[in-house]
Amino acid sequence: MTASSSLALRALHEVEEFEACVQLQKDVWGFDDADLVPVRMFVVAHKVGGQVFGAFDGSRLVGYALAVPGDRNGHLYLHSHMLAVAPEYRNAGVGRQLKLRQREDALQRGIDLMEWTFDPLEIKNAYFNIERLGAIARRYVPNQYGITSSALHGNLPTDRLVAEWWLRSRRVEAVLAGRAPAPAEIQAEVRVPAEIHSWKDAGDARAEAAQTAIRDGLRAAFARGLAVLAFAREAGGAGTYRLGRWDEDWNYGPPRAEQATT
Ligand SMILES: CC(C)(COP(=O)(O)OP(=O)(O)OC[C@H]1O[C@@H](n2cnc3c(N)ncnc32)[C@H](O)[C@@H]1OP(=O)(O)O)[C@@H](O)C(=O)NCCC(=O)NCCS
Repeated sequence: MTASSSLALRALHEVEEFEACVQLQKDVWGFDDADLVPVRMFVVAHKVGGQVFGAFDGSRLVGYALAVPGDRNGHLYLHSHMLAVAPEYRNAGVGRQLKLRQREDALQRGIDLMEWTFDPLEIKNAYFNIERLGAIARRYVPNQYGITSSALHGNLPTDRLVAEWWLRSRRVEAVLAGRAPAPAEIQAEVRVPAEIHSWKDAGDARAEAAQTAIRDGLRAAFARGLAVLAFAREAGGAGTYRLGRWDEDWNYGPPRAEQATT
């Protein structure tokens, strides 16, 4: 971001605002029309108790977050389906501000849990979700959306980790306050090589091999009852998922449809 001080966040309600979100979505993901989340879905999310928040630099929409409500064994939670920031505004805290706005709104509504999925090969997103927000992950969904038209997905199966953001947990409170969460004994590690992005861009077979190794490593650790509790970045750009046992009551239970996929 150009260190602009005029950035403002607000809830979006109007069709024109949702159209700006769809345009930003096209710019960020490069989806074909068939893969786009359309304006009508933003309208629906807004109407049924989801969230649509936008970040503006003056009148320009530079980021948005879209969430829909969900039910987990009788508990209301929010599934955050999309978070996008325009490329020239990244790494300046806009994404984090949008997540904090989502959290504030959820807490006001008495909601304790937000979830979203992310590509385990995306090192920045892993760091952002686990280290900057305090999310944990203990579920893995292979090829969640099928193979899509987005260049960001590199023609690979759309494997996803489920981020669970327990909004009132001591862990999240600590991380958001800039403190380290309670230390956990690390019992497994799964590394993502820095070259993954260039391999994906080039259609190099090593990208799929790395995806398979990471999938196998994470699923084996999850089967042992471990969760991703930390993500370590290396100077060269690689990153490592660090897994251990959790000690809080993060326990709405797995969604029935996903029980077989962890
Ligand atoms: C993911 C996304 C929304 C983040 O937005 P953002 O405004 O850049 O996020 P923030 O600036 O709040 O935080 C990004 C953090 O990642 C860090 N980061 C940046 N590049 C990184 C990299 N290659 N590896 C690890 N961490 C990285 C930044 O330093 C920053 O951390 P810091 O606050 O400790 O400095 C944005 O990159 C985006 O739109 N990506 C494309 C769409 C997407 O992947 N959406 C998310 C799906 S879960």
